[in-house]
Amino acid sequence: MPEPAKIRDPLDMPEQRRVIDRTIDEFMHLPGAAMVVLNNLQGRIGYITKPMQAYIAERMNVPLSKIHGVVSFYSFFTTEPRGKHVVKFCIGTACYVGGAEQLIDKTKQVLGINPGQTTPDGMITVEVCRCVGACSQAPVIVVDDLNHGKMQATRINNVINQILQSEAVSAA
Ligand code: FES
Repeated sequence: MPEPAKIRDPLDMPEQRRVIDRTIDEFMHLPGAAMVVLNNLQGRIGYITKPMQAYIAERMNVPLSKIHGVVSFYSFFTTEPRGKHVVKFCIGTACYVGGAEQLIDKTKQVLGINPGQTTPDGMITVEVCRCVGACSQAPVIVVDDLNHGKMQATRINNVINQILQSEAVSAA
């Protein structure tokens, strides 16, 4: 199985660190500042590493457990950069019962990564998500915000190949 991509911490990159500091300075005095700062950093940097969480907690003088709690509760936040394409597996009840686990297993075989990880080339991130409101189509996967319903493990290869082919075409 390939190693997941190595992550360089934004705190170690001067430009990114300036973005982090500016974001904290900009929002730290607002009500609900922790959520606002984290939300903005997820958008501006793209992910919030554990060292970033500790830094934000210290600079904002809030408990690290609070920052960590927010980041781990909302699936919108990630601690690693997402890949160029995101494949999400709905694990709401209907999809879970409908075979989401088998779809995830098949994807692990094809891509060599677990949910929450990104392929070493930075191309595809695999995630799980809650019900996306398309239960009649269960099991559902979401590829770059587009639902694919009634998914079967035998179609996972096709879905991945389509993503890779679209990249090959746009690179040509
Ligand atoms: S449980 Fe998957 S769409 Fe509702």
